[in-house]
Amino acid sequence: MMRSMMLLLCLFVAVIAASTSSSSSSSSSSSCHPDDKAALLAMKAAWGDPKQLASWTPDSSSCCCDGDWHHVECDDSTSTTTGQRRVTSLSIVVSQQQDDADDDSGSSGGLVAGAIPDAIAGLTHLENLDLRRLPGLSGPIPPAIAKLSKLAFLSISRTGISGPVPSFLGDLTSLTELDLSYNSLSGSIPPSSLPCCNLWSIDLRHNHDDDEEEEDEYNYLIDLRLSHNRLSGPIPAEWSTVSFGTVSLSRNALTGDPSAALLGRDRPLQMLDISRNAFSFNLSAVELPEDLGFMDLSHNAVYGAVPAQAANLQYLNVSYNRLCGELPAGMETCSTQTASRTTHASAAPLSTPVK
Ligand SMILES: *[C@@H]1O[C@H](CO)[C@@H](O)[C@H](O)[C@H]1NC(C)=O
Ligand SMILES: *[C@@H]1O[C@H](CO)[C@@H](O)[C@H](O)[C@H]1NC(C)=O
Repeated sequence: MMRSMMLLLCLFVAVIAASTSSSSSSSSSSSCHPDDKAALLAMKAAWGDPKQLASWTPDSSSCCCDGDWHHVECDDSTSTTTGQRRVTSLSIVVSQQQDDADDDSGSSGGLVAGAIPDAIAGLTHLENLDLRRLPGLSGPIPPAIAKLSKLAFLSISRTGISGPVPSFLGDLTSLTELDLSYNSLSGSIPPSSLPCCNLWSIDLRHNHDDDEEEEDEYNYLIDLRLSHNRLSGPIPAEWSTVSFGTVSLSRNALTGDPSAALLGRDRPLQMLDISRNAFSFNLSAVELPEDLGFMDLSHNAVYGAVPAQAANLQYLNVSYNRLCGELPAGMETCSTQTASRTTHASAAPLSTPVK
């Protein structure tokens, strides 16, 4: 009897302890900064209260950082004196599956739609912004985006966004990934649309022998995806100072000679896809980047011959161009799709599959 009373008492105390500790932790360590909460609620209102953002509620007990608000992530630091956390990631992404389900029911109702609200500028600690598979998202990319100075990953993809690639994106000096593919962007690409120059050093790359350091270095390479838009004109000569890891520009109407801006032996580029544009340049005169593994030049007006270095690539597609001459030694055995080894290939398929 005594023993069970004691047990009961212990249980009671334990329950009280648990309830007080959980309430104190939710009110201090995981509270979100009022500016961030206000910015998110203003965005929700500007988008007309879509069902997709139903978890974003204004009541004071609702915290944008405790996991109840979908699509939002905050930093882990509780070191600030107020204990308020900052929103570092906003990722409103419709999954492929969800997309298909919406197609079946004949509506994509409830999704975020309309322009990107200026209130987004209030999310001053944002590092990741991902707006994807939102066909109702429209209008141009607003200058408010340029205020997000900590942004490292910016993806606005498979939306109805239109207008130009803005030059103010060049102000985002922390940016390492820019994905604006599958939109309706048009016009020519402005010279200062990417942060330039300071991210890659050839000296560093060749002089350090610490593998870890090298990996760090690679993290600073910029991945650029502008494929499937309506961009025209030449690509900016200023890009010769940008440290690209990946460049994907396929299915636009780009023109001119991109080789000086993108290629060259000492560039860090690993993947290049400029297929289905109207680029024209002499491939014989180009030195390929040492780390390049993938290159798709198909459906352009590239002339000259395939350089010997191309034999080092894992994937090369130069079909539907104006190349002539022999393929370099070492390539003839790996290609099943090459129509003939010696070609005056004005329009003949000429490509090698992955080795
Ligand atoms: C292409 O470049 C190569 C090497 O620089 C040169 O020999 C050739 O004449 C050029 N072809 C054309 C059509 O300009
Ligand atoms: C090369 O590109 C052409 C045209 O874009 C495409 O039809 C073909 O399948 C590609 N070849 C390979 C091996 O990927």
